[in-house]
Amino acid sequence: MKIAAALLLCAMCFLGSEAQCPDPSTLKDAEGTKLCARLFEDSNYYYDQSCGGEFLNIYPNDDVPIIPWRWNNRVSSLVVSKLCNLTVWSRIKKNGTKKKFSSGIQYRLKEVSQGLIGDWDDSISAYYCVC
Ligand SMILES: *[C@@H]1O[C@H](CO)[C@@H](O)[C@H](O)[C@H]1NC(C)=O
Ligand SMILES: *[C@@H]1O[C@H](CO)[C@@H](O)[C@H](O)[C@H]1NC(C)=O
Repeated sequence: MKIAAALLLCAMCFLGSEAQCPDPSTLKDAEGTKLCARLFEDSNYYYDQSCGGEFLNIYPNDDVPIIPWRWNNRVSSLVVSKLCNLTVWSRIKKNGTKKKFSSGIQYRLKEVSQGLIGDWDDSISAYYCVC
C-alpha cells in the first residue's frame, strides 16, 4: 500500500512539472518562423519552471546594440537555437562585459558568472545572434 501511494504521488508530481524552456532544436515563433534565440523575463531555482514571464523573440542575424527599453536589464533565462550563437553585452551599444552563448538552454542566468563577483541575471543590454 505504501509503495502504491508513493507511486501515485510521484505520477502526480510529474504531471505538475512539465518542462517550460523550449527545445533548442524546434524554436519557432507563433507563425512557425525559425528563431535564433528567445529571451525570458523569469527564471526559477527549479529548472523545469524556468523560462517564465514575458519573452522576446530573436531572429537570425538580429543585431541590436540597444535592447528595447522595457527589456533592458530584465532577462533571466534564455534559449539559443541549434547551430546558432547569441552574443550579449551588459551595457548598451555593446559596451561593458561580453558573453557568447552557443546553442542550448540557460535555465538561470543568475548561475552564469560575469566577471569575478557578478552574474548575468537582469544584465543584458545589447545582443547579436547568428545561425
Ligand atoms: C563604453 O564605456 C566606456 C566606459 O564607461 C565609455 O568611456 C565609452 O564611451 C563607452 N562606449 C560606448 C560606445 O558607449
Ligand atoms: C558558433 O560558435 C562556435 C564556437 O565558437 C563556432 O564553431 C560556430 O561556427 C559558430 N556558429 C555560427 C553560426 O557562427
